[in-house]
Amino acid sequence: MPGPADEIKARLNAVELIGETVKLRRSGRTFTGLCPFHAHTKNTPSFVVWPDTGTWRCFGQCNEGGDLFKFVMKKENWGFREALEYLAGRAGVELKPRTPQDEQREEEHKRLRDLLNLSVTYYRNLLLNAPQGQAAREHLQKRGLTPSTLETFEIGYALASWDAAQKFFAERGFTRKEMVDAGMIVERDDGSTRDRFRNRIMIPIRDGQGRVAGFGARHLDPNDNPKFLNSPLTALFNKGDTVYALDRARKTISASGVAVLVEGYMDVMAAHQAGFTNVVSAMGTALTETQLRLIKKFAKRIVLALDADAAGDKATLRGLNVARETLDHDYTPAFDARGLIRSESKLQADIRVFTLPEGLDPDDLIASDPNAWKRGIDEAAPIVEYVMRALTAGRDLDDPKVKGEVADEILPIIHDVADPVERDSYRQKLARLLKVDERALTQKLHPEQSRKMVKPPTRAQPSARPPLSPALPTPEPASPEIESAPVGVESSITESSVDRLESYCLGALARHPDLVAKADRQLREWKLAPLSADDFSHTDLQIIFSALKAALDQHHLDPGEHMQLQLDDTFAARLQKLLEASHDVSVEDRRRVEDVLSAVMRLRKRNIDNALHELRFLQEDAHAQADEELSHVYQDQIYNLVKALQKVTNALKEYMHRAERFGIAGLN
Ligand code: UTP
Ligand code: MN
Repeated sequence: MPGPADEIKARLNAVELIGETVKLRRSGRTFTGLCPFHAHTKNTPSFVVWPDTGTWRCFGQCNEGGDLFKFVMKKENWGFREALEYLAGRAGVELKPRTPQDEQREEEHKRLRDLLNLSVTYYRNLLLNAPQGQAAREHLQKRGLTPSTLETFEIGYALASWDAAQKFFAERGFTRKEMVDAGMIVERDDGSTRDRFRNRIMIPIRDGQGRVAGFGARHLDPNDNPKFLNSPLTALFNKGDTVYALDRARKTISASGVAVLVEGYMDVMAAHQAGFTNVVSAMGTALTETQLRLIKKFAKRIVLALDADAAGDKATLRGLNVARETLDHDYTPAFDARGLIRSESKLQADIRVFTLPEGLDPDDLIASDPNAWKRGIDEAAPIVEYVMRALTAGRDLDDPKVKGEVADEILPIIHDVADPVERDSYRQKLARLLKVDERALTQKLHPEQSRKMVKPPTRAQPSARPPLSPALPTPEPASPEIESAPVGVESSITESSVDRLESYCLGALARHPDLVAKADRQLREWKLAPLSADDFSHTDLQIIFSALKAALDQHHLDPGEHMQLQLDDTFAARLQKLLEASHDVSVEDRRRVEDVLSAVMRLRKRNIDNALHELRFLQEDAHAQADEELSHVYQDQIYNLVKALQKVTNALKEYMHRAERFGIAGLN
């Protein structure tokens, strides 16, 4: 059942539209070109567009792909709504006027914003005037924060009370539900409520548009844990999607081209007070790619100011506070050095690291020696150099064993660097550092390649490695439920079977969120990756799945409802349709798991099949152009995909087999 997004996609010609940005040439059933999302040194096309499905993928550095929406979002740095409006205009599709539900949701969000704004004033007033705020005032003064800085950042104070805030909000006409939804109060198990923030310094957090979205709250009493308590995930606030103080810093960041990322709120305030207004914070989360992307909108160079502990943490670069996450129940995958370098090339950013002197916070350094701060930022090292330094510090580089170890640790990181010239220079640097012949390092990096020079791969036998072009079993068991899933009829657009499978699968998950964990458990048993947004090819479905996953990760009582809150109004109609599409999901729990699993596996198989097909072609192309390095890269990808495909196919087979023999009993 197609929505406006499908209608738009059906009307637009992906090749034409993408062709406005990328020079595409036909090759068989597809079009290829140079990926617009990463830098190139060679003119070897790794970017493929499928006209039939209107999708694209970069098989090179980015290894990313999606539909037209994803393309436009990536290219313009837009959200889904913006892409939708733009593409609707191009396609001549009129977006439906807001439904009553949309309006209701908007109204609800507006109430939450009103409540947050009121909270800011309320806490601010307490900090300025309440006798109980004395300790908070003293603390802030001792930290050297001026009244004007406190005003700028709207710092406040929450009373040491269980209900002062909620009484105040209630007097102003806010309901208990609104207070819960805004994250300001907490429901106890027995159904009673308490103020979430008590006896804390209150730091309002604003979103990209400068609207208050939540709070960070620092304790005053060292016995109150955690030290910082943040607003929970709400319809308006998601920590991993928010960069603290970006609203205040964006101007300087644009003007200077440099953004500095620190750990803490206090560090941001101290920096701004000292005139360093390009400083922002990830608020103690492991840096997420979304945060990097938000910052990257305004500056190419991003300097991570890490304290010496984090730097001492070797190459993990988990620096930005991962351990604390456990306190927050707030899980975001950590960014290690490789992750950062990949994001760096993906976002075409220039990420550097400034290691602070031992024992000093940015806060301290700025207060004691602002020039050292400035110098540190100016001279910040590229990640690879930083990692080299961290990994070699204090080790005996004359010891051949140590040499080997260090090379093994650093080479994979160098390998991920996008720019070949840069990559070479790092390799040379490493060779000098270890006092070894650079050729030895190259060999270590590409053992396959050096061996294989003699016998280039052919298309029929894309890799010299054994398990290629295997007789892959291809059971395509049809699940009756899925094949007979209802299809929209009125519209001119017919959904392909993949689309139907995707909508069915996501609809079932949204309707029964407990299926996510159940399916993941089985996938884990098969040693397959858990469900992820990548299983879906439509950008809107990816976004909806991510919202569901986030709601589940935050242990919300009603993840389905929470997800709806989280999503932009744009998705309301789409979600509604998905839920309808899954109305006939089995009543029986086990069958449901079975249906979803079977759908997911078939989606995966198809995704891999498509990618394989194209990769074989690209690899042959690279080979024909005698670009053995690239051919090798594709070959690696093919190898990995074939392995993945085998895993999926085997699991699918075993699963069908079991279902046949035991009924579905084996599954749960
Ligand atoms: P710090 O403990 O270094 O705090 O945590 P800070 O900002 O320097 O504060 P002061 O100087 O002790 O007053 C750094 C950041 O990590 C996050 C916060 O964003 C904090 O600013 N954090 C820390 C949490 O989110 N939760 C915590 O429990 C602790
Ligand atoms: Mn500090």
